[in-house]
Amino acid sequence: MGKIAVYPGSFDPITKGHLDIIMRGSKLFDRLIVAVLKNQSKKSMFSIDERVDMLKQIARDIPNVEVDMFSGLLVDYCKDRKVNAIIRGLRAISDFEYELQMAQMNRQLNQEVETIFLTTSTQYSFLSSSLVKEVASLNGDISEFVPEIVLTELNKKLKGDV
Ligand code: COA
Repeated sequence: MGKIAVYPGSFDPITKGHLDIIMRGSKLFDRLIVAVLKNQSKKSMFSIDERVDMLKQIARDIPNVEVDMFSGLLVDYCKDRKVNAIIRGLRAISDFEYELQMAQMNRQLNQEVETIFLTTSTQYSFLSSSLVKEVASLNGDISEFVPEIVLTELNKKLKGDV
């Protein structure tokens, strides 16, 4: 059976920084599951279904990428889906401490899954979903930072159309 990786996150919404990790991660594994976290404490702008739908449209042309959602412990999801590795992006040193803690906790909970870090491409190292939402809400141009579909959906949200 092929090697499977999961790229988990809240993706509220997906940015080009996430997409960069998805493209690069998908080349390292036979299958990559992009898994959107449900029921998280963070308040989200897009519903879980909206986030999954956008991701599906964006990942449509990458043959070995699947989009899914999960709740509960990530390591339990990994067990269910027979995942070999968790992929996370590292943007800056400031991500490191939190990511290291999560990776170590996850390994403590499930020794079968490795966490693999990909360093974010430098042109996206300053991006986050919150910043993109803030800039968009203040009428800044975010077209460089998000895929086309996100730009459209974000503008609809901000205009109150959906
Ligand atoms: N490019 C652009 N932005 C990026 C990025 C990249 N490559 N990588 C991360 N980010 C941003 C996200 O947009 C997000 O920004 P925001 O805070 O402004 O919304 C922020 O970095 C972190 O978000 P994300 O990568 O989605 O991680 P998270 O911290 O929301 O979620 C999970 C992390 C889902 C992996 C973790 O919470 C989890 O596993 N939860 C399940 C429960 C569990 O198992 N808990 C125990 C864990 S040890």
